[in-house]
Amino acid sequence: MHADRPALRTGVAPGALPGIGHAWQLRTRPLEFLASLPAYGDLVEIGFGPRRAYVVCHPELVHHILSDGRTFDKGGPFMDKLQQIMGDSIGTCAHAPHRRRRQLVQPAFHPHRLRDYSHLMNRQIAAVLETWRDGQVIDAAAEMDEITARVAACTMFAADLGPATIAEVRHCLSVLLDGLFKRMTAPLPLLEKLPTPANRRFDAALTRLNAIVHQMVAAYRRSGNDHGDVLSMLLTARDESGGSLSDSEIRDEVVTLFLAGMETTASVLIWTLHLIGQHPEIEERLQAEVGTVTDGRTAGFDDLPKLRLTGRILAEALRLYPPAWLSTRVATQQAEVAGTVIPSGTAIVYSPYLIQRRADIFPDPEIFDPERWLPDCGPAPQRGAYVPFGGGARKCPGDVFGLTEATLALAAIAGQWTLHPLPGVRVTPQTRGPLRPDRLLLRIQRRSRHGHGS
Ligand code: HEM
Repeated sequence: MHADRPALRTGVAPGALPGIGHAWQLRTRPLEFLASLPAYGDLVEIGFGPRRAYVVCHPELVHHILSDGRTFDKGGPFMDKLQQIMGDSIGTCAHAPHRRRRQLVQPAFHPHRLRDYSHLMNRQIAAVLETWRDGQVIDAAAEMDEITARVAACTMFAADLGPATIAEVRHCLSVLLDGLFKRMTAPLPLLEKLPTPANRRFDAALTRLNAIVHQMVAAYRRSGNDHGDVLSMLLTARDESGGSLSDSEIRDEVVTLFLAGMETTASVLIWTLHLIGQHPEIEERLQAEVGTVTDGRTAGFDDLPKLRLTGRILAEALRLYPPAWLSTRVATQQAEVAGTVIPSGTAIVYSPYLIQRRADIFPDPEIFDPERWLPDCGPAPQRGAYVPFGGGARKCPGDVFGLTEATLALAAIAGQWTLHPLPGVRVTPQTRGPLRPDRLLLRIQRRSRHGHGS
């Protein structure tokens, strides 16, 4: 890494307001704001409230900060807010305790467990698709939320949570995510201490979610059974020195996994359905691939490597609309980046959305083109240029889990249905949590056994 290479430029984003910096832009039009930053440099200074922060706009710098987790540790204002919900977990803890956490949590996502999870995933996907009727208009966003919430609940807690509790968990997470983004971009942190209705809703959701998770942990500890699910793995996991996770550490991990895994996977599915609805020629090719690979049966774990176009479509949706569109690090010591001295304690922002839409890396970046991921379509993007799952030691441990679920769901949908967007309905990205549209209305048409529509 040549941090001080002259080709890398440092700049300052225009439009900062006294006292609040760019909080307003980040709150009201964060995507446009982020996408505008590379024009000012490869490392761009912005104002986070009264503090200054740097956004890395060049792949080399993204790679640099992601691969040096000791100097650029989890932290900064966004991470502080995330800790209000996730506690001190694999996703939020500092570099030093992270290795132990990762060791304890990662086995739950070991590739050999994915085959078992894939059966659970297919059961939940089928249960949701069975409710669809030919000609119906669905809100695909709500349907994908339903699939990923069911999958998260049954892979986390195989001992049945029950539909009412699942609905409650989802409600709590949605209130928390909503509050989280408002808190992250609030110009004055003191606002979150006031007893406003929104703050009371946030606190109540957190209290209820904690109670549900603690109940489950206590029930699992009492029964002592291995249910073959994520919670059983967390309860039995041991680190290098034989230590295990305490109840409160397990609470933090469970909430983190719910929060990190559910809406992100729903988000990539929602965007993918939107994109294939907009591109009927790609949808037809997807349907043909699924037909050839599965011949009408449900796609399973062994089919995943054969669903190549399906994989490229998901990769491209993740490029255009990365669910985790922004994350932060904090400099734990004075560091030099792109020739600029960054004082210890400064927040560094990286955004897969920003970097994956750079026209010099991805030509015609706004165009949905799954074929750009074909192996013979030129060299793979340079490191740091395609980071929908982050990178380095903090890279997403649920990447294969999420992609397995998304591939199975997309194959099941394309195998049975053709999607028609409603004319004149605009789909706008929301940035309150993972990048996603609130609603995606699609008319669904059942496919005949070997053809297009019925
Ligand atoms: C398509 C779906 C997903 C996307 C796009 C995604 C994206 C990401 C990204 C970008 C990060 C790194 C954030 C950073 O650098 O600060 C991350 C971390 C994480 N993700 Fe995912 N994720 C997805 C699915 C999942 C699933 C299904 C799970 C678990 C069930 C999961 C669990 C986690 C955890 C625990 C971390 C923190 C890892 C650490 O700090 O060591 N994610 N994810």
